Amino acid sequence: MTASLSWISAPAGPLSGDIVVPGDKSISHRAIMLAALADGMSHIGGFLEGEDTRATAAIFAKLGVCIETPSASRRIVHGVGLHGLIAPSGELDCGNAGTGMRLLAGLLAGQAFDSMLTGDESLSKRPMRRVIEPLAAMGARIDAEPGGLPPLRIRSGSNLRGIDYELPVASAQVKSALLLAGLYADGETIVREPHPTRDYTERMLAAFDWPIAFEPGRARLSGGHRLRATDVVVPADFSSAAFFIVAASIVPGSRLRLRAVGLNPRRTGLLQALRLMGADIREQDAREQGGERVADLEVRHARLRGIEVPVELVPDMIDEFPALFIAAAAAEGTTVVRGAAELRVKESDRLAVMAAGLRNLGIAIDETPDGASIHGGTLRGGEVDSHSDHRIAMSFAVAGLIAQAPVRIADCANVATSFPGFDALANGCGFDLRVATG
Ligand code: S3P
Repeated sequence: MTASLSWISAPAGPLSGDIVVPGDKSISHRAIMLAALADGMSHIGGFLEGEDTRATAAIFAKLGVCIETPSASRRIVHGVGLHGLIAPSGELDCGNAGTGMRLLAGLLAGQAFDSMLTGDESLSKRPMRRVIEPLAAMGARIDAEPGGLPPLRIRSGSNLRGIDYELPVASAQVKSALLLAGLYADGETIVREPHPTRDYTERMLAAFDWPIAFEPGRARLSGGHRLRATDVVVPADFSSAAFFIVAASIVPGSRLRLRAVGLNPRRTGLLQALRLMGADIREQDAREQGGERVADLEVRHARLRGIEVPVELVPDMIDEFPALFIAAAAAEGTTVVRGAAELRVKESDRLAVMAAGLRNLGIAIDETPDGASIHGGTLRGGEVDSHSDHRIAMSFAVAGLIAQAPVRIADCANVATSFPGFDALANGCGFDLRVATG
């Protein structure tokens, strides 16, 4: 990985075309995990060939699971059963992936061997107490670095017991870690959320035939069953589509079609926010694919106006704020974001990094502890630093389209964690995005 990769995004557009973005990251991680623990062989289609999800697949290979790659975006996983993983010979590297590390912490807590989860520089700064504490309440023994930071050392020999846990912060990763530990626990594990979050773990457990009861905000399962292999079709990732949705909305004359985008309601808060801002986004041919709602999206340019983002939408668009900030910068008036303190503990402090970048491009922005007010205006060119955060890099690539001069974006290599091929796909529909030399 080239940590020093910089991009230059020059003014361009209008955007047009008919594109398919890569598979959903959250679903791809979970598909590998559950298929690995199932009895029998599972085929995964639409798997995200990103560094994050490949790191998860590589971890299961180290845990003794045979995973074949018959062609790009497909995997055949030979499940070893719930108790079939073997002790790894070294540490397990989650790369940049918070989802990988947190879910694996729960899953590995139930194993009969020790393991150690490590991550890259960004992941090594992300809070893990949120999973360590409830897992400890289930009987797990996990040591972290001071401050609850990775690496995580997970010790064997824990007899897990189910708990009834109310999450202090809405987090699908924490919920999922507890449910995965719950597969190995005596008795019932109940997870309650302050606001419903993405329910892919619950849906996928059901698809792999594990008895589970769930409704928005609550999930309940017991240990001691088996997972039965099944095939998984991964839909296109809404979070990857988001950059193109915002881009086509803000570049005059654009009309862009995105095929078969996953529209799980716990992911699509950005659609609602953009529509409140005046965006023209049409859903066509809505259908079901692998148990998830998908549709083609047709996005046309529209004049956006600033809004107060409804706080209840925040968890449903938690990964989309960098893109939303660009839409807000392009809008007329002020956009106010509140209740989004979680953005400070993502791959970077997304409130601080977006505020710094937008200011460099001439946009006035007032940062608050849990949000920001973004005053729409004219973006001039300039330099921004993505702080190796994939979503920030792609968001500023979108900003370059409507800036008065090119935007140079530092530290873009991590785009490959979630969206390999973003630059080629973007250029194919009208961006002017290139690698900076010198
Ligand atoms: C994810 C949950 C969210 C999200 C992340 C993926 C998941 O994190 O931001 O990109 O796959 O469960 P939190 O659980 O920390 O909110």
